[in-house]
Amino acid sequence: METNTVRMRSIISSHAFFLFLAALSLLPSPSLSQDDSVVGYGYRFISSQADVSGNLLTAQLQVIRNSSFYGADIQKLYFAASFENKNQIRIRITDAEEPRWEVPTEIIPRQRPSEQRHDEGGSAAARGHAVLSPPDSDLVLSLTSTSPFGFTVSRRSSGEFLFRTDGGSLVFKDRYLEISSSLPGDRANLYGIGEHTRKSFRLVPGDKLTLWNADTAAMNPDVNLYGSHPFYMDVRSPEGKAHGVLLLNSNGMDVIYSGNSITYRVIGGVLDFYIFAGPSPVEVLDQYTELIGRPAPMPYWSFGFQQCRYGYKNYTELEEVVAGYANAGIPLTVMWTDIDYMDAYKDFTLDPVNFPADKMRQFVDHLHANGQKYVVILDPGISVNTTYATYQRGMEAQVFIKWNGTNYLGVVWPGPVYFPDFLNPAASQFWSNEISIFRKTLPVDGLWIDMNEISNFITSPPLTDLDTPPYSINNGGVRRPIDNNTVPASSLHYGDLTEYNVHNLYGLLESRATHDALIKDTGKRPFVLSRSTFVGSGKYTAHWTGDNAAKWEDLAYSIPSILNSGLFGIPMIGADICGFNGNTTEELCSRWIQLGAFYPFSRDHSEKSSIRQELYLWKSVAESAKKALGLRYRLLPYYYTQMFYAHKSGTPIARPLFFSFPEDPHTYGINTQFLIGDAILVSPVLQPGATSVEAYFPKGRWFNLFDYADIIEAPSGQEITIQAPSDTINVHARGGSIFVLQNTTTASLTTSTSLEILAVLDEEGNATGEVFIDDGEVVEMGGDVSEWTIIRFTCRIEGGKAHVRSVVVNGTYWTDKLVVDKVVILGLKSGSTSALPRVHIENQLISAGKVLAGKASSSSRGRFDSVEITGLSQSILEKFHIQIDLV
Ligand SMILES: *[C@@H]1O[C@H](CO)[C@@H](O)[C@H](O)[C@H]1NC(C)=O
Ligand SMILES: *[C@@H]1O[C@H](CO)[C@@H](O)[C@H](O)[C@H]1NC(C)=O
Ligand SMILES: *[C@@H]1O[C@H](CO)[C@@H](O)[C@H](O)[C@H]1NC(C)=O
Ligand SMILES: *[C@@H]1O[C@H](CO)[C@@H](O)[C@H](O)[C@H]1NC(C)=O
Ligand SMILES: *[C@@H]1O[C@H](CO)[C@@H](O)[C@H](O)[C@H]1NC(C)=O
Ligand SMILES: *[C@@H]1O[C@H](CO)[C@@H](O)[C@H](O)[C@H]1NC(C)=O
Ligand SMILES: *[C@@H]1O[C@H](CO)[C@@H](O)[C@H](O)[C@H]1NC(C)=O
Ligand SMILES: *[C@@H]1O[C@H](CO)[C@@H](O)[C@H](O)[C@H]1NC(C)=O
Ligand SMILES: *[C@@H]1O[C@H](CO)[C@@H](O)[C@H](O)[C@H]1NC(C)=O
Repeated sequence: METNTVRMRSIISSHAFFLFLAALSLLPSPSLSQDDSVVGYGYRFISSQADVSGNLLTAQLQVIRNSSFYGADIQKLYFAASFENKNQIRIRITDAEEPRWEVPTEIIPRQRPSEQRHDEGGSAAARGHAVLSPPDSDLVLSLTSTSPFGFTVSRRSSGEFLFRTDGGSLVFKDRYLEISSSLPGDRANLYGIGEHTRKSFRLVPGDKLTLWNADTAAMNPDVNLYGSHPFYMDVRSPEGKAHGVLLLNSNGMDVIYSGNSITYRVIGGVLDFYIFAGPSPVEVLDQYTELIGRPAPMPYWSFGFQQCRYGYKNYTELEEVVAGYANAGIPLTVMWTDIDYMDAYKDFTLDPVNFPADKMRQFVDHLHANGQKYVVILDPGISVNTTYATYQRGMEAQVFIKWNGTNYLGVVWPGPVYFPDFLNPAASQFWSNEISIFRKTLPVDGLWIDMNEISNFITSPPLTDLDTPPYSINNGGVRRPIDNNTVPASSLHYGDLTEYNVHNLYGLLESRATHDALIKDTGKRPFVLSRSTFVGSGKYTAHWTGDNAAKWEDLAYSIPSILNSGLFGIPMIGADICGFNGNTTEELCSRWIQLGAFYPFSRDHSEKSSIRQELYLWKSVAESAKKALGLRYRLLPYYYTQMFYAHKSGTPIARPLFFSFPEDPHTYGINTQFLIGDAILVSPVLQPGATSVEAYFPKGRWFNLFDYADIIEAPSGQEITIQAPSDTINVHARGGSIFVLQNTTTASLTTSTSLEILAVLDEEGNATGEVFIDDGEVVEMGGDVSEWTIIRFTCRIEGGKAHVRSVVVNGTYWTDKLVVDKVVILGLKSGSTSALPRVHIENQLISAGKVLAGKASSSSRGRFDSVEITGLSQSILEKFHIQIDLV
């Protein structure tokens, strides 16, 4: 707790603004239950205080009238609004008398809430209304003078309300909390609140979004899935100013969006809102991930293509699949195995018949010798089997979740299981030790943690009233009991925490334990893929969208899903390519790899009873794969640089168009296209039989990366029909960008690689870009300056000359493996170049012994000319300047 006592003073304020506010307030209306019973009548304002810092305002509230629906009202509430920095206001409402459950700061590190203070009989002037408005912030908090109590958060710069609860009732009971914010229906555009499979990325009026981690297949739209993220971003039309709202609460909840309001119905914890000022979408994510944790850096290899299937029978099948890719000339960087490899589905074991240790070791050694990687699955349930060493060690260390006085006995793939309690430090130690023992047998490169919602094949009978809360959240879309097919809410964790409160944290805690264990055992940057997530999971894990179906709808839904994961601070995200459940078709699989090649995480995965769907099995799919993945691998340095930005400031790798074009409201409703970083636009085919796409091109020039002659000029944003024959996905680079492309289909920064610099010019003849380089697997990304480098490139056309320059922005990492042998400039004015332009090259570090050469040629590409310089041998890590005399 805070130790220094802050002198409190009453706020005396009669700002015209509040009078205005009070006049605007709507008539109070009681909160109603589903059957129209009154759930609560709201709270009355008693008093408020501001501290001398001007960053904290507290208030005492008293229930107006009792309602016993969903339980007794908590009589006195404590309200605290605080600015922890100028871009973020926190508003916390809790029981004034009794401490309540909230996500521990040990799990999501953040400031402890301000110390609770009781009403010290504040003067009459303190009653009424109050304001919190630090001069350096654009956010203003006001308490409203009307009864019931409400508050608003608005922007100082525009007066616009971002969050306003005046007019709606606050309900606060032990196991039912309700609060609403009204929204300007014609201006608000909300995104987030997940995890759900959705047709529309933007929330749609009438959406009822439930949050309770469950093993429900992702092919079911609009129901609560594996993760819980009570965060949304609101982009206001038409200016495109964005803010973010997090309700930091781990209990089950329903979130109801009407278009004119958003209502939270939560079954426990406290109301702890963080509102992030933005005002750009990029800034909102920076502010959000500063609070919840920056996304974990992923190793360079994890941006390569990956193959998995539930149902590989034995190690020879794995070898055949790896060989199948090689023979077809389709790049494959990572091979995976689902639960099939285990002995009777026991974690950390190998099936002695089909996946024997010696053969598996050979298999993994071969992959490694070939620059490839291997990842296997782990489930949390530990088989209850007295001859199983992992079980024995777990029992000895007493690491399992408890229920009714003993270890909770669930049933998953191996049959009866106990679940490690990752809230117990001993469980993380146990888990880490098991991983380390297993890796001595099989040095896997990454781990995939599944079934961690927790998924349970049985539903235990209710034990205490925690198992049957008074308000039933809309679990599974049918108000299914919260205990259904999971660990019962009445189970106990370390420190006597109840599953009721910590349920949604399990995947996060297992991700943290697995991430830390891999660092400890490998000394390298870990790769963890988790199905279940919570706020802050991105700090430890990658994610995939879960069990989708091999259907065209699911292909389309994958775009909202990956964009949502980015908003939730988990930028390493992909959907199972070609579909998990059911039989894919040749056409669907072909279109899916075209899109999936551009997911941040690109993996083909299928279910046991479905037909095989490795990409080499059909000629047309193989063609699509070679083409799309060919571009993906060329773009790996770009993807990796986006990973760095994500890690530094939370910007998603795959982004909605409005991230780069917030001032263009047409981008707000787009569900069928996305950006990689801010310079690559992906416009896939999502319909069977289609050979063209209606795509939106925001303002600018867009260069087709498969066909440089195909350039779309959109002086203002434009909807355009573009051709998409069966082997083609449209991927466009935004004019004004420079890319570093690699010329290999390996995913390594430590093997010799020739690089190309591709400059696509804007209308002014300018382009810029950056690349981040390290060894691809050092634990920290952008840590010690000797381990990484950022290089910035510029291209400028002036007086008949093109200048391509590089500067080292930061870092001193050195390798001689990464050599630029080619520079290409696109988008030169037609007729501005001679056939054989002359090239001059200056390099500040000739001492490194590089021979500089280069031959230029130019050609006409449609309405534009381009220049290509080949035969260079220039380290990417050295500063250089290339001048090309165009005429
Ligand atoms: C509500 O009920 C509590 C007892 O549960 C009582 O102390 C309190 O006075 C009641 N409040 C009102 C406003 O009736
Ligand atoms: C692996 O399974 C395949 C298909 O069932 C079979 O043909 C092959 O012989 C098996 N290999 C081994 C080593 O058992
Ligand atoms: C325990 O594991 C051993 C080794 O895998 C297996 O043979 C045995 O059937 C298992 N026992 C039970 C009760 O599942
Ligand atoms: C809880 O444990 C008691 C005592 O062992 C037992 O009688 C009871 O059946 C258990 N309850 C459930 C729901 O398993
Ligand atoms: C759990 O949910 C499944 C699927 O809706 C349902 O079939 C089953 O009856 C439920 N079990 C309980 C105990 O509610
Ligand atoms: C998938 O194809 C297999 C093999 O043709 C068939 O046995 C199975 O029934 C199909 N599954 C579905 C869901 O259609
Ligand atoms: C890579 O570069 C080499 C030498 O410059 C060239 O022959 C080859 O075609 C390039 N490969 C690709 C995939 O671009
Ligand atoms: C183009 O680059 C030049 C030199 O860096 C700069 O002065 C100019 O403002 C740039 N134009 C645009 C539109 O960015
Ligand atoms: C380079 O990076 C280091 C480490 O992140 C940072 O402390 C330093 O300020 C950076 N320097 C520049 C010039 O950006």
